This record gives sequence, structure tokens and C-alpha cells, in this order.
Amino acid sequence: SLPVPSVQELAKGSPGNVPLCYLRDDQQLPIMIKSYDNIPIINMENLILGDEFELKKLDSACREWGFFQLINHGVSDSVIDKVKKDTQDFFNLPLEDKKKLKQMDGDMDGYGQAFVVSEDQKLDWADMFFLTTNPPYLRKQHIFSHLPQPFRGTVELYADELKILALKIIDFLAKAMSMDEEYIREQFGEAMQSMRMNYYPPCPQPDKVIGLTPHSDAVALTILLQLNQMEGLQIKKDGMWIPISPLLDAFIINIGDILEIVTNGAYRSIEHRAMVNSEKERLSIATFYNIKLDGQIGPAPSIISAKNPAKFRSIGAADYVRAMTLVPLIVVKDVVLFP
Ligand code: SIN
Ligand code: FE2
Repeated sequence: SLPVPSVQELAKGSPGNVPLCYLRDDQQLPIMIKSYDNIPIINMENLILGDEFELKKLDSACREWGFFQLINHGVSDSVIDKVKKDTQDFFNLPLEDKKKLKQMDGDMDGYGQAFVVSEDQKLDWADMFFLTTNPPYLRKQHIFSHLPQPFRGTVELYADELKILALKIIDFLAKAMSMDEEYIREQFGEAMQSMRMNYYPPCPQPDKVIGLTPHSDAVALTILLQLNQMEGLQIKKDGMWIPISPLLDAFIINIGDILEIVTNGAYRSIEHRAMVNSEKERLSIATFYNIKLDGQIGPAPSIISAKNPAKFRSIGAADYVRAMTLVPLIVVKDVVLFP
């Protein structure tokens, strides 16, 4: 059985009252919300053309926001349409079929919940399907080889395209930060990639639940694709939660803890969360890119000097990634990096 019930099934029964374990008296709700016109928008085509202004914009987006929307990113519409459709179809499968791919004890991969630690903890109003996607030898065969077609083929195609995109973005970040580009390429060239597909059903008491508990991403870079234009993602800035309105055809990109460390704190890994609504389901796919497993995670030597001393100690990447799978993702930063 699943460690926790499927929220999708729960929501189908349209409960008048949300079960207690989802009511978030542990969180500060209601919340201060401030609307901005938008978070920074970066045009990838301009970066590729060598536009210095766009590169500066990227640099300040990562310093001040840790988040931006990326347009003209080069990933083909057909791949994006496929992954959207097949992911929606996956969540539409009968529960019995999804349960065949359920998370096993101590493993993130599979169908279940993001951050379950104990029985009595507060739960997020969402289901997820987590997959380690690259390099192929790290895929969990008990999940991956049982993916229905065409979903499996689509995931492979999308994962490969997003790996290329992640590497391009990291290249531009290295340029923008004046880090040694060869070193950065070596650190990130072959790294673990994973995907979390999120399904947030509508909720009769949307202000009393959270779709995804506030956290920062323990990875290097996250590329988020929303399946529809529903709002829900909020990021913390200047003590306030700011809702993100996803642009059509854009990815929402954010800096994770690993890049915060590599840039010695210049680029920020920002706390964010997902909220739900009473009207309509919301779906998203977060694709995570890490750092190579057989190296160290620490500030890039090329930016460390007497004037900019290292703010983080280095730790083995393998130990870090192992810790990520043992403790809930939300506390990795506190436990492993800032002991
Ligand atoms: C996240 O990946 O942390 C946010 C997911 C979402 O916006 O649905
Ligand atoms: Fe996240």
C-alpha cells in the first residue's frame, strides 16, 4: 500500500471537510502576498547571440531572485506537447495502475508523496511521480522499465532535451559569474538528473492546505514546466510570498542549493512552495540537475580570493546525493551543508 493515500482519490470523493492531517496550522497562514508584474524573463536566443545585456540580466536575476522564466529556450514544441499529454494521461490512469509503480520504502522513485517522514506529520495536498532519469544506469529498473508506453519514450526524449538545456544554462551562468568555464563544464557535464511530476487536485479548503511545503531545492538547477497556466507556485522574497504567473511557452528556472554553494552564495537558492485552489487541478514537472557524483561540492576555486573567501566547506558529491535520498529534501541544506 502507499505510505499515504492518493490525494487525487481523496479529492474525487469531494470531502466537505479536509482530513486533519492536511490542515496546516503548522504554517503561517494566512500569508502576506505581494504581486509583482513578473519575475525576471530571460531570452535564451539573446544569450546565444552573445548579448551582454541579456547576460547581465541573467546574472542579476540569479543574485536577486534565484528564479527566472526562460523564453525561446529551444526545446521543441512537439516534445513539450508530448510530455504534457503523457504526464496528464499517467495521472488519469486508474489508481490500481499507478500503484504498480508506487514508491518503495526509503526510495524517492515512484508514485507517492514528496516528503513523507512520519505517520503523524502534516501532509501536502498533492501526489507525485518521481523518476531518476539520467545517466541511464542510475534509473530504477523496477519503476522505469514498467512505465507504460508512450510515456516511457516521451520521458526519455524530454529528459535528454532538458539535460542539454540545463548544461547550456549552466554555461551561461559560468560566463555571467566569470567562473572558469572549463572547470564548470567538468563539474556538471555528466550529472544525475531526476524528475518530479506533481499532481495537485482542487481542494474544498484551499487556504488551509499546502500543495508543496516550503523548501529550497537541494539540486544544482531546477527546470519547471507547468502543464496548464494555473497559478500556484510562490517564492519567498523580502519576507513575502510572491505568486508566479507562468508564461505560455516558458520554463521557470531556479537556482538550487548546489549552485548557491558553487557560486559562493552569489546566486541564491530561494525558498518556494506550491499552493492549490478550489477550482481546478494543477500539474507540473520539475526536472532537477545535479553535479557529477565523483567530485566535491564547494565554491568554484576561480572565484575564491582574499576578498571573497569561501563561505561553504566542500563535501563529497556522492555523500551529498546519498544524504538527499536519506533525509527529506527539505532539510538537506540544514543537515549537510550548514552543520
Ligand atoms: C517545486 O518544484 O518546488 C514547485 C513545483 C510546482 O510549482 O508545482
Ligand atoms: Fe522545489
